[in-house]
Amino acid sequence: KTYTVAVVGATGAVGEQMLKYLEERQFPVKELRPLASKRSAGGTIRFRGQDVVVQEATPEAFEGVDIALFSAGGSVSEKLAPEAVKRGAVVIDNTNAFRMHPEVPLVVPEVNKEAIRNHKGIIANPNCSTIQMVVALKPLYDRYGVDRVIVSTYQAVSGSGWQAVVELEKQTQASLAGDQLPLNVMPVSKLDKHYPIAFNVIPQCDVAQENGFTLEEMKMVRETKKIFDDPEIKVTATCVRVPVYRGHSESVYVELKQDFDLEEVRSLLENAPGIVVKDDIQEQVYPMPIDAVDRTEVFVGRIRRDLHHPRALNLWVVSDNLLKGAATNAIQIAEALIAEE
Ligand code: A2P
Repeated sequence: KTYTVAVVGATGAVGEQMLKYLEERQFPVKELRPLASKRSAGGTIRFRGQDVVVQEATPEAFEGVDIALFSAGGSVSEKLAPEAVKRGAVVIDNTNAFRMHPEVPLVVPEVNKEAIRNHKGIIANPNCSTIQMVVALKPLYDRYGVDRVIVSTYQAVSGSGWQAVVELEKQTQASLAGDQLPLNVMPVSKLDKHYPIAFNVIPQCDVAQENGFTLEEMKMVRETKKIFDDPEIKVTATCVRVPVYRGHSESVYVELKQDFDLEEVRSLLENAPGIVVKDDIQEQVYPMPIDAVDRTEVFVGRIRRDLHHPRALNLWVVSDNLLKGAATNAIQIAEALIAEE
């Protein structure tokens, strides 16, 4: 069987990776329908060696679509995902629009693939920082139980889209040349205040919440509970933007429910699906974003027992935010979906 697949946001940073990955994985695409804003309509993208015309994302554009991959921002998903479902498509949504909706499964296939079965038209792809963390936690959760997690992120600018990538490049050049910096995107383009990301780090990803955390931090808290179907798991997050193009890094402190053996932890991680362990500090072996670009796996290193808490350990977790953090996970959901049919 083959499928008509729409990619909404096909001209974006994630959309581009979705197209590439659909092609590489030889997803059974009968017809590809690249959709974007009116600005891009009429232009073309390359897919399987051919130019395919980009159309404006309108409700009618979803006629005949079987699977719609959305990555064009929350407001586009809110408006158009229901229109796509109405026309018979299954939506896999990469935005924050429906993630916490009780009827929408929030899926990382390595962790909770079976949740896909309960979908009512929309399946949500979690936040990029959440995905790579839960993939790393899954084997530990299954073996020992997880009581508490304290995570600090080092997030690449591409998580905020093309504009942010361009701004980092321009700011770096301007900074070295002693010119005035362009300041339009970071930390949150829709807010009025902007700070440089070149030669800087910004402890804010997404908008502030009433409780003093940011929305990105609260996504990690809520989504982790939903994906593990465990409201008791305690997550504290600090999300930080760093001047890296691609690849999110995370320092993850985990308190387990049972005692553990560090060698067993290493072997559980080594044998878990979707994980590559790179861990030998004596030999300076550890994951770095520069090595994770274009890779679909989650890399884990700096595995060490905590010095104070008897059931805690520390991990360093890195993954390509545009791939496992977004496009790869979405397409793995699509693959799991069609395998069920
Ligand atoms: P366009 O290129 O036409 O603006 P990024 O995350 O890299 O910023 O990309 C965002 C993606 O979402 C782009 O493909 C962009 O298309 C698309 N997009 C933005 N606004 C809309 C909209 N109102 N309707 C459909 N697609 C949109």
